Amino acid sequence: MAKVIVAATAKGGAGKSTSVACLAAYWSLQGRKIALLDTDDNRTLTRWHGKGSVLSKLPIRSECDVDAVLPAIEELKEDCDLVLVDCAGANTEATIFAVGAADLVLIPVMTDEANLFEALRMRRVTESASKLARRPIVARTFLNRTKRAAVTDHTRKQLEAFGAAPLDATLPDRAVYQEASFHGSAPPVLSPKSPAAKEIGALAREIEDLLSA
Ligand SMILES: Nc1ncnc2c1ncn2[C@@H]1O[C@H](COP(=O)(O)OP(=O)(O)OP(=O)(O)O)[C@@H](O)[C@H]1O
Ligand SMILES: [Mg+2]
Repeated sequence: MAKVIVAATAKGGAGKSTSVACLAAYWSLQGRKIALLDTDDNRTLTRWHGKGSVLSKLPIRSECDVDAVLPAIEELKEDCDLVLVDCAGANTEATIFAVGAADLVLIPVMTDEANLFEALRMRRVTESASKLARRPIVARTFLNRTKRAAVTDHTRKQLEAFGAAPLDATLPDRAVYQEASFHGSAPPVLSPKSPAAKEIGALAREIEDLLSA
């Protein structure tokens, strides 16, 4: 049965599309059958997919109409191992429905108060969706665009204090992610031995452990 990972937080620019694109590239290289769903009407992931690199080989649906989100997820699940869903930087109806269909809600958090606030809100949204759906939906945060600065440790401790401990893996602030958005590839493909590729691999393996728990 295919699993559904939904990257969501209402904080714009936290790293939803970047993490979906990079994780999709990583798992594709590992031989997993990946499908993509873009529920953001800005279409960031859809443009990334359209640039002719590794992601372009993957099936994708772009659906921000709330009525189309659940049918799209069900259809994509039929022929893949993992559906990765990218959400808008707002708690749209499409986001809520995608969260309701998720096995894992992945919440990128940059190291500032507004990111922390929205991450905690997305966890509450996930808890409500889980009650409505009458099944467990796991929500996990991870730190994105981290720098070697005290604020990184502070954000991690704040998340822990609110019961939203982040994954061990973090994605540091690296220009390669911005470059990848222009050419549509991702570090695991471009440079498999690079620090960025290793960091994405570590994030992916932690997610795999969560999904198989
Ligand atoms: N780890 C990182 N290091 C450097 N730049 C990053 C990193 N993660 C994301 N970015 C950059 O930050 C910006 C926002 O990232 P992204 O588009 O993934 O966020 P988002 O949560 O999908 O945003 P939106 O809410 O607008 O959909 C982009 O310019 C992206 O290249
Ligand atoms: Mg995005």
